[in-house]
Amino acid sequence: MKKNILITGGAGFIGNHVVRLFVNKYPDYHIINLDKLTYAGNLANLTDVENMPNYTFVKADICDFEKIISIFDEYNITDVIHLAAESHVDRSIKDPFTFAQTNVMGTLSLLQAAKEKWKDNYAAHRFYHVSTDEVYGALEFDDTLFTETTSYDPHSPYSASKAASDHFVRAFHDTYGMNIIISNCSNNYGPYQFPEKLIPLFINNIRHRKPLPVYGKGENVRDWLYVIDHARAIDIIFHEGKDGDTYNIGGFNEWKNIDLIKVMIKTVDKLLGNPEGHSLELITYVTDRAGHDLRYAIDSRKLKNELGWEPSLQFEEGIEKTVRWYLENQDWLDNVTSGEYEKYYEKMYNA
Ligand code: NAD
Ligand code: DAU
Repeated sequence: MKKNILITGGAGFIGNHVVRLFVNKYPDYHIINLDKLTYAGNLANLTDVENMPNYTFVKADICDFEKIISIFDEYNITDVIHLAAESHVDRSIKDPFTFAQTNVMGTLSLLQAAKEKWKDNYAAHRFYHVSTDEVYGALEFDDTLFTETTSYDPHSPYSASKAASDHFVRAFHDTYGMNIIISNCSNNYGPYQFPEKLIPLFINNIRHRKPLPVYGKGENVRDWLYVIDHARAIDIIFHEGKDGDTYNIGGFNEWKNIDLIKVMIKTVDKLLGNPEGHSLELITYVTDRAGHDLRYAIDSRKLKNELGWEPSLQFEEGIEKTVRWYLENQDWLDNVTSGEYEKYYEKMYNA
């Protein structure tokens, strides 16, 4: 069936992988990538799909309700996959207001537009909200995992804003009967991640022989998933997930930060031809992140049992692929760290 899918945040890290997968896999769908192009949005991530006949880019702010309505009308939007967000915990600690504005009010603006435009047949239109495992709070060092029924207990302004947006999405299902779906995913890694997040930041710093700032003692635990496996899960859940349901997505791949950092150092040194252990001296323990969640770990058995999804990559393979990608794409890293990439939109769209 022909669909006109609005993907928000498609110029960001996860969004570009989702856009690429949908544009290539579904030539009958029209993919409308809506992105404000904040510091985290980069159209140079999508040069391979920008001229595809089933792809359109629209620069817009999800908080601009009138603009969103006009986009629904112009492209006859049939479904939404919503990824646009402020996504970095450290930024949320410095500037919580922007997180509430984009993540809560922006999501509400999209929901309200969809409610108005789809009111004649909610069942025929899906609103898919991409969320995070951070809404569940933090786990101790034991064998518990976040399941879909774990109570929400967000701690950072980022996770509080994502939790609030999840609640609004569910409220539009329960109150108006909209066809919604939510997925909560663990930490993603892979190509095109903005180098403020742990993995690309550390690869870039090793490259420049800069200190590697490890928060606290480096004992916090995260569950890492290769970004393309997240995009594959979104595809399956979008098409086969149950209306009103939630799915956890994770890699069953927990790493203590300091152990992960040592694997990264080993891989970067190997690929750069440095002697083993060469970059360990860059590790620098710094003041911990305020309210730093101790451990995240996702139970994604529901997604496996009901929809048959499993991660396709083992971590050792994924991390080597990732390090290799950043080292082979040093221009990309240099462009995003210098702000050069912002000119791409002007050049491409004569704006
Ligand atoms: P990102 O920061 O790399 O990208 C966010 C994108 O949203 C950017 O392209 C940015 O320009 C766009 N954007 C921001 N504000 C906007 C606005 N007001 N209007 C329109 N566009 C706007 O984020 P990401 O890491 O790709 O995360 C995407 C989504 O997945 C987010 O909702 C995030 O909460 C969620 N998520 C991320 C991870 C992860 O590990 N990165 C894990 C689980 C869930
Ligand atoms: O769990 C999913 C979440 O994963 C997503 O919802 C977020 O959008 C995404 O940013 C990510 O959040 P984290 O805070 O876990 O990711 P980050 O890369 O910022 O940090 C990973 C871990 O590394 C965390 O324990 C903090 C630590 N860290 C991070 C940075 C940037 C450091 O020790 N030093 C650093 O410089």
